[in-house]
Amino acid sequence: MSAPLETNQPAHLSLGNADVDLPRVEATAGGSGVSIANLLAKTGTVTVDPGFMNTAACTSDITFIDGAKGILRYRGYPIEQLAEHSSFLEVAYLLIHGELPTLPELEQFVERIDRHMYLPEDFREILSIQPRSSHPMAMLGAAIQTMACFYPESMDPLNPAAVELATVLLLAKMPTIVSYIHRRAAGHALLYPMRGEGYIRNFARMTFADPGEVVDLPDALVDALDTLLILHADHEQNCSTSTVRLVGSAQANLYSSISAGVAALSGPLHGGANEAVLEMLALIRDSGRDVKTFMTRVKDKQDGAKLMGFGHRVYKNYDPRAAIVKRSADKVLAALGVTDELLDIAREVEGIALQDDYFVQRKLYPNVDFYTGIIYRALGFPSSMFTPLFAFGRLPGWIAQWREMMADPTTKIGRPRQIYVGHALRDFVPITDR
Ligand code: ACO
Repeated sequence: MSAPLETNQPAHLSLGNADVDLPRVEATAGGSGVSIANLLAKTGTVTVDPGFMNTAACTSDITFIDGAKGILRYRGYPIEQLAEHSSFLEVAYLLIHGELPTLPELEQFVERIDRHMYLPEDFREILSIQPRSSHPMAMLGAAIQTMACFYPESMDPLNPAAVELATVLLLAKMPTIVSYIHRRAAGHALLYPMRGEGYIRNFARMTFADPGEVVDLPDALVDALDTLLILHADHEQNCSTSTVRLVGSAQANLYSSISAGVAALSGPLHGGANEAVLEMLALIRDSGRDVKTFMTRVKDKQDGAKLMGFGHRVYKNYDPRAAIVKRSADKVLAALGVTDELLDIAREVEGIALQDDYFVQRKLYPNVDFYTGIIYRALGFPSSMFTPLFAFGRLPGWIAQWREMMADPTTKIGRPRQIYVGHALRDFVPITDR
């Protein structure tokens, strides 16, 4: 990648007879951009950029990534510091409100969320009538959309009090919904949240405890969950976040927008990758642990084989989240007394990939998904729950990005252009003559 331009002059574009100045849009960190907003009006020409490889869809002051250096910051704070010193709800407050909360602000925020964790009985029934075999992401998307039916007073996207209520309700209900989805698939009775138990501890108990059981969940489990949720909390304009913004740009309510984000996240190239990583590692184990043959298949692109959990559109260096997860994988497994052959295989795969020209030349490094599945598995989650856990973590980021988009006076309904390449014009042919 070439270095960003060291100038604050507008870019100048000559297109046929038209000369256009493209004003610069300055960044506070990382590369600045040039605006092509007037290009169509001035030249009749649009830009073409499949996959938005070179397009900034907005300005944002939420998350900064330097993919070449492996840097991730929320509101300016390095992810390493937040993962070590903060909690998921504190990070959610930071992302959504822009600043770290004071103690009274945090206490009030947490208390309000705590009060709303309960799900109405009718809502539980709706979750209970879905087939047990449903994919958890299909259930999660439907459940979030269902919130719009239960809380119509929080739906108006232009009313700040309604948006604040929807924000709290989403954060509060998410752990309850995700735990229900897990228990429903396993055929276990659904448990209720307990006031004052703590956000993550409540979630873990609702997920793993037997009905009526007093459980003493290990701190290592609760802390690991908290950290993983922080690491997933935002990642600027990725596929699901862009989806949330795009749907929201039509002034759809927050629930519909987030539900659309869940749908985007379910894809195996995005949030579904953590599930695919474990499937891949299990496949390697079941094929006699022949890592080298598997790597050859990947490099030869046999049957479209990919090294799941490797590569990233933005990181062309080690994903800083992957580095944190890798460090905590050992710690968590040791604290829980779990050994996992898949962790050894993952290390072996990474070791080979980091030395191999194919991966080095393409700058393919482990992404956040490479080691998260192993921790989730050690905590007791089946792999089908990994992507819902990702969505749980990403929720504050989606909310923050949606709110930023709604508050931005330059926001317009998202509506890309196209270059039409079909038949120019032809006459209708009656069916008997075709
Ligand atoms: N394994 C093998 N080869 C790969 C991989 C991989 N995981 N990722 C990219 N490549 C190769 C491509 O085949 C391509 O090779 P070529 O130059 O010979 O054609 C080259 O590297 C560039 O890859 P692109 O697909 O152009 O990179 P892009 O930025 O479009 O894709 C993506 C990024 C989708 C993440 C890709 O790396 C991938 O599919 N990875 C595996 C899935 C995964 O782990 N997804 C999680 C992403 S992180 C997240 O969503 C939280």
